[in-house]
Amino acid sequence: LGSRPGPGPGHRPDYIPNYIPDPNYVRIFDTTLRDGEQSPGAALTSKEKLDVARQLAKLGVDIIEAGFPAASKDDFEAVKTIAKEVGNAVDKTGYVPVICGLSRCNENDIRSAWEAVKYAKRPRIHTFIATSGIHMEYKLKKTKEEVLEIARSMVRFARSLGCDDVEFSPEDAGRSDKEFLYEILGEVIKAGATTLNIPDTVGITLPNEFGQLIADIKANTPGIEDVIISTHCQNDLGLATANSLAGAAAGARQLEVTINGIGERAGNASLEEALLWSSWTQFFYEVVTFLSPIHPVVMAFKCKGKDILGGLYTGIDTRCIVMASKMVEEYTGLNLQPHKAIVGANAFAHESGIHQDGMLKHKSTYEIISPEEIGLERSNEAGIVLGKLSGRHALKDRLKEVSSKYTCRIIHLTLLHDAISKHFVPSCYIQLGYELDDRQLGDVFWSFKAVAEQKKRVTDADLVALVSDAVFQP
Ligand code: KIV
Repeated sequence: LGSRPGPGPGHRPDYIPNYIPDPNYVRIFDTTLRDGEQSPGAALTSKEKLDVARQLAKLGVDIIEAGFPAASKDDFEAVKTIAKEVGNAVDKTGYVPVICGLSRCNENDIRSAWEAVKYAKRPRIHTFIATSGIHMEYKLKKTKEEVLEIARSMVRFARSLGCDDVEFSPEDAGRSDKEFLYEILGEVIKAGATTLNIPDTVGITLPNEFGQLIADIKANTPGIEDVIISTHCQNDLGLATANSLAGAAAGARQLEVTINGIGERAGNASLEEALLWSSWTQFFYEVVTFLSPIHPVVMAFKCKGKDILGGLYTGIDTRCIVMASKMVEEYTGLNLQPHKAIVGANAFAHESGIHQDGMLKHKSTYEIISPEEIGLERSNEAGIVLGKLSGRHALKDRLKEVSSKYTCRIIHLTLLHDAISKHFVPSCYIQLGYELDDRQLGDVFWSFKAVAEQKKRVTDADLVALVSDAVFQP
């Protein structure tokens, strides 16, 4: 969190199940290695999983769901290795992440999860069973009473293995009967669950509905005040991040997310989107607390009201976001759409003349966060991309740059030789530095527009040729 006010080591609550030292602290549970890996075609090797887990620890993730140990021998070994290595490494803030393994509600899965995670300093078993009418009838072919009994006895079984951190999820909670949810959640709390995760498994709820679900669970589940409420939102309607935030506003203090939002079908809530929100919320909270007379105004402007989101914060170091995003993109082969919020290639790029002019005058005109904050080094200061919509101001500014910097997508990730040669482009050595008078600029501008009509992007090499033709030819 750099020089800005942030949680810092002194603020970060040490994770102890059932202990909530700071009610505003929101735990980040990353499930890139479990739900994320369920994205079609995204399978990772054990070595890649370990690399990603190390990167997640650097990012400051509180809980890493490392896999589903009963699913395969490979996954079991990968989770065990992560538990041994990442689950025992103290980070720069003095924290050791919780390492979690997923299991269905049966003894075999739970034992396997425990055998894999038990090497971590803070092991967690995450067990789940479906609670919606649709799932119980068609998938499980069980009655409510049977499901309730399985959940209760399997949470008890997980605790009996010596695990004092057990998370329970009623799968498809978004479509489950609320009264049944209060009942089953109350029972698993009595059986020893320490985190109750509420999955919107098919991503069907709207933010107001999901927020209301969390609020209702909080109000009606016996014993809920002793445990952490968590969200797990799928993105089928593109609402996963919004739903997670609505959940946090309603009292959830753990958000389940993945890097780049990968996961089953349309994916999960994306870590970077949820985080940028919470880091900004914290920042504004600190600022407005300091400037108390304008407190309500600033919060209303940025966060839609102090009472809704104010004061919540996470322990994430947002400067490591780009690095984690690139690593996951590279390893899974799931390429990001250019306009993906926060980490897409265009998230900090500006093409239209009006926007470029604004950016050159002041970056706050079109950017709500600075690229440095997420660890992004971009090719030029104002993120200007020259194309057919660009104006004179942007062209003049680019021509003045003495040497254009390259954008090396992979540099943040690893210094693999082939990757570097793939992403370094010759334009990184091109020298510009042209100071043109108005007439010369006018000539170059018109030929620039003609080229831009033909090409999607005008490169620095094109600019050198244009200047040479328009200004230096006799
Ligand atoms: O989507 C879901 O319901 C899940 C649970 C296992 C948490 O992934």
